[in-house]
Amino acid sequence: MGKCAFLRIPALFFLFGVTFSCNKENVSEEVSQAPHAVKLRVPVNFPPVLEHADNPLTEEGIELGRMLFHDVRLSGNNKISCASCHRQDLAFSDGIALTTVGVSGQALARHVPVLFNLAWAESGLFWDGGSKNLESQALGPLTSADEMFQDLNVLEQELKADPEYVKRFAMVFKDGIRSVNVIKALAQFQRTLISGTSKYDQYRRAGSGAGLTESELLGMNLVNSKCKACHSGELFTDDNYHNNGIDVAFNDDHEGIYQGRFRVTFNPLDLGKFKTPSLRNVLVTAPYMHDGRFKTINEVLDHYQSGIKISPTTDQLLYQNRGQAGIPLTQKERQAIIAFLGALTDHEFMTNKQINNPNE
Ligand code: HEC
Ligand code: HEC
Repeated sequence: MGKCAFLRIPALFFLFGVTFSCNKENVSEEVSQAPHAVKLRVPVNFPPVLEHADNPLTEEGIELGRMLFHDVRLSGNNKISCASCHRQDLAFSDGIALTTVGVSGQALARHVPVLFNLAWAESGLFWDGGSKNLESQALGPLTSADEMFQDLNVLEQELKADPEYVKRFAMVFKDGIRSVNVIKALAQFQRTLISGTSKYDQYRRAGSGAGLTESELLGMNLVNSKCKACHSGELFTDDNYHNNGIDVAFNDDHEGIYQGRFRVTFNPLDLGKFKTPSLRNVLVTAPYMHDGRFKTINEVLDHYQSGIKISPTTDQLLYQNRGQAGIPLTQKERQAIIAFLGALTDHEFMTNKQINNPNE
C-alpha cells in the first residue's frame, strides 16, 4: 500500500489524463491505507466535468465498482450482473429492443441505454430523467423485480461472506460493506466510462494525422446544421428532454412509462419528451429510441425525414421543411450522415481492457 498509486493506474487513464494524487509527504501508516484520490481529466475537446464531493473518485473505489458491475451476485438469482444488460462491446447497451434477461423474464418497458460519458449527465438519468444521479440510480435495477430483484440485506450478507470484498470495501469506505456503498462504487466506476477516442475525436484534437473523408465531413456539417440543436456539443446530446415526434398519443399505461418526462414533472408540456441520447457509437447500438422501435439507422433517418408525428409537444426544431414537420435529406446527404456517425464509433472504448470484467 505504501507504493505510489501513480504506478498502478491503467494506461487508458493516462490518455485521458486522469491524474492521481501521490503525495508522499505526511503519509502515516493509516493514511497510506486510505484510498488514492483520482481526478477525472477529460478529453481536451470535451466540456469540463463536475466533481461529486459526496462520492469522490478513488482508484480503489473505481476498481471495486468495476468488480461489482460485472458480479452476478448483485442479482437475486445470482445470474445477472449489470453487464448482462450493459455490454461493453455494444457501448454498454444490449442490442435488443426490450430485454427479457431480468430475473422475472418479463420484457422491460424500455430499451437499455448506452452507458458512457455519464460524468456529464447532470440533468437526470433514465430516458425520462426519473433518477436524479448515479448515487441513487442503481437502486432501480438492483431491486426491480424485472431486473435484478435483489434484497439489499441479502446482498450485504453475500458480499460480507467474501473476504476479498470485505477488504476492498474497507479500503474505500469507512463503514465498509453497505448497500449505499455498493451504489457509490458503481457510480465511481461508471463515471470513468468515457468515450472520447473515436476517429472524430482524433480529428478534433488533430495532431494525430487523422482526417475525416469528404463524405464524413459533409455528414458532420449536416449533423451540425440539422441535428445538433438537440444532439449538441462534443457529447452529441444537450442532456435535455425533447419530443422528437415518434408518437402522437401518450397513454398512462405502466405507470406513465410512455409519457416520458411528464411522468417525472407532471408538466403537460413534457408529455412524450425523452432524454436526447448521444450520437456517439450509434452505429453499434441499434435498435433505437427509448423502446428500441427502429431497427436500423436508415429507419431513424426515414423517421426524421418523413415520419415526424405531430402532437402539441412535438419539438419545433423538427420543422425544418419550410415550416412543415420533417428534415429533408437527399440520398447523398443520408449516406454522408451515416458515414459521419461511423466516425463517432469508439472502438478503443469498446475493447478497453481496463473497464471489462476483471475476472475475464
Ligand atoms: C435487466 C436489464 C438491466 C440490468 C441488469 C441493469 N440495467 Fe441499467 N438500465 C436498463 C434499462 C432498461 C434502462 C433504462 C430504464 C429507463 O430509462 O426507464 C437502464 C438505465 C440505466 C442507467 C441510466 C443511463 C442514462 O443515460 O440515463 C444507468 C446509469 C444504468 N442503467 C446502470 C446500471 C447498473 C449500475 C446496473 C447494475 C446494478 C444496471 N444498470 C443493471 C436495464 C438494465
Ligand atoms: C428536437 C430535438 C432533436 C433533433 C433536432 C434530432 N434529434 Fe435525434 N433524438 C432526439 C431525442 C429526444 C431522441 C430520443 C427519443 C426517444 O427515445 O423517444 C433522439 C434519438 C435519436 C437517435 C436514437 C439514438 C439511440 O440511442 O436510441 C438517433 C440515431 C438520432 N436521434 C439521430 C438524429 C439525427 C441524425 C438527427 C438530425 C437529422 C436528429 N437525431 C435530430 C432529439 C432530436
